[in-house]
Amino acid sequence: MPIPRRSYRLLLNRHLGTPGVIVLPEGGFRRARAEIASWPGHAPTPLVELPEVAQAARVAAIHWKDEGGRFGLGSFKALGGAYAVMKLLQAELARRGVANAATSAELAEGKYKEAAQGITVTCATDGNHGRSVAWGAQRFGCRCVIFVHEGVSQGRRDAIAKYGAEIRVVPGTYDEAVRAAQKTAEAEGWFVVSDTSYAGYTEIPRDVMQGYRLMAEEAAEALPRPPAHVFIQGGVGGVAAAVSVQMRARYGAEAPKLVVVEPEKAACLLASAEAGRPMAIEGELDTLMAGLACGEPSLLAWQELERAAFAFMAVPDAAAVDCMRLLAKRTPRLEAGESAVAGLAGLLLAARDPFGRAALGLEEGSRVLLFGTEGATDPELYAKLTA
Ligand SMILES: Cc1ncc(COP(=O)(O)O)c(C=O)c1O
Repeated sequence: MPIPRRSYRLLLNRHLGTPGVIVLPEGGFRRARAEIASWPGHAPTPLVELPEVAQAARVAAIHWKDEGGRFGLGSFKALGGAYAVMKLLQAELARRGVANAATSAELAEGKYKEAAQGITVTCATDGNHGRSVAWGAQRFGCRCVIFVHEGVSQGRRDAIAKYGAEIRVVPGTYDEAVRAAQKTAEAEGWFVVSDTSYAGYTEIPRDVMQGYRLMAEEAAEALPRPPAHVFIQGGVGGVAAAVSVQMRARYGAEAPKLVVVEPEKAACLLASAEAGRPMAIEGELDTLMAGLACGEPSLLAWQELERAAFAFMAVPDAAAVDCMRLLAKRTPRLEAGESAVAGLAGLLLAARDPFGRAALGLEEGSRVLLFGTEGATDPELYAKLTA
């Protein structure tokens, strides 16, 4: 298999197994699952086996959870932001005395239209989260303003605007866009629906992450046997933490080893693990893996990952492009965007390196679960990179 060797970083988590707080309580997940499963168009995404890749990595099996088709939005993020928008509207309509417990169906059919239109949700995004929030706002009838940094491609901006959201462009990185969204929301009385959490702001990101867990649950349901390893990409860490919680809830002491994989230019989770506390990293965060270009971990995500992640890896952009091509050229073809393949890149790089294999306990009998967290969410860039 023509995957070149590339340099990577690997850090084993020395705090693995330390007791900590419950970040995502089970009741919240049950509510998220029941709600999202009731939405029109809901269906579990496919779990695909990749035997030829497993052979090349000298492991027993690799399963790929393909999120490209999730609610027609192109990524797993459809599960989080839209659900959090719905929860926020419910709570706000109750607070305003409009409806005690508005259902998503009532919101979608416009029963509280006038009141809902007076509520504005906002967030910063590098694409996929904003698309989910905009989609949720459109479905449930509120106003939406999305902040993007300059590096977010026109294709990605258009895909958000398609759902009726106003787009505002901010100089700098994703983290600057997060701050701009927060500041404007404070000034305007808007509601930030963020996928990242910080001290004093955890309720909404918790809902977002509870939504993500559905993806991990579906994967576990469809797997023929429990996985020994999960390699999952990290931006602010929300999805990695949601997968971690779900794997621990499902498999208990037999939970798979969770390896969090980030771009080498935006490895804030690895840096945090190295420092032993959540760390913001400096720099341009200029990675092709746009969804992973985050410089500060989400507080909630960190609280889970600091004790439950087995290891942290950082991989170069070139390895992601190798993996996109690998999947694009296989039969049948799998469309995976730049941010979808970091986990696969981490697995392949570690599996072909005796040090990586030994450190992560990758063996010929290992069964590995990967999450293809997005499809070709920027079709032009995807075509260029896989040509
Ligand atoms: C496709 C894709 N995968 C993974 C991630 C990482 O998610 P998180 O920021 O929760 O770590 C993102 C974030 O935007 C994404 O868009």
